[in-house]
Amino acid sequence: MRIDILSVLPELLESPLQHSIMKRAQDKGLLEVHVHHLRKWAVNEYGQIDDYQYGGGAGMVMMCEPLAKAIEELSQTVTYDEIIYLTPDGKQLNQQISNGLSLKKNLLMICGHYKGIDERIREHFVTMEISIGDYVLSGGELAAAVLVDSIGRLLPGVLNDETSALFDSFQDNLLAPPVYSRPVDFRGWKVPDALMSGNHRLIEEWRHEQSLKRTQDRRPDLLKDL
Ligand code: ADE
Repeated sequence: MRIDILSVLPELLESPLQHSIMKRAQDKGLLEVHVHHLRKWAVNEYGQIDDYQYGGGAGMVMMCEPLAKAIEELSQTVTYDEIIYLTPDGKQLNQQISNGLSLKKNLLMICGHYKGIDERIREHFVTMEISIGDYVLSGGELAAAVLVDSIGRLLPGVLNDETSALFDSFQDNLLAPPVYSRPVDFRGWKVPDALMSGNHRLIEEWRHEQSLKRTQDRRPDLLKDL
């Protein structure tokens, strides 16, 4: 999969995408991430990419021209399956959306700043608008990093069997069960007997029950969708 990201603060995307599983995905050649500095398509020699908003009011708007030029230039060599704008008024990200996006070949992500991007870019270029939650970040970069991570770990071959994404919380609309490691007894707090039984059927049953219970307690809304 190839992901291109348009940003005015590419530095913000460096660290999250260069470690751990995202690094492995890229090292294995399963994921290619290209971060482009939007100022490359600035409207003048001062690197301008934003301007005051019509109608007045505080806050700058990211202008049409740099974004349109960037999208058009990148689209000459890559056919994007989706052009995604990260914005707090987008559709809220969930596992189903990440699963769907992980099946695509080429994605372009646009990180907004200031008051956001000119509405005409949203109308004429953007095909999907995603929010990572009901709160406002200073820009779309951290949201893009979250989105890339949630998609990247689903690509076949990125995770090994033990860490398989199939067992993640939300993958079947249930939260993951509790997990334990050594020692069996820590300060008198014991690992549940079922996990120590060596009986795989019993262990699976226990885990499923715990998943259901945890989902019922913490996120009953997820069970309504089952
Ligand atoms: N940009 C600013 N806040 C955001 C959010 N919550 N989700 C996605 N992009 C954003």
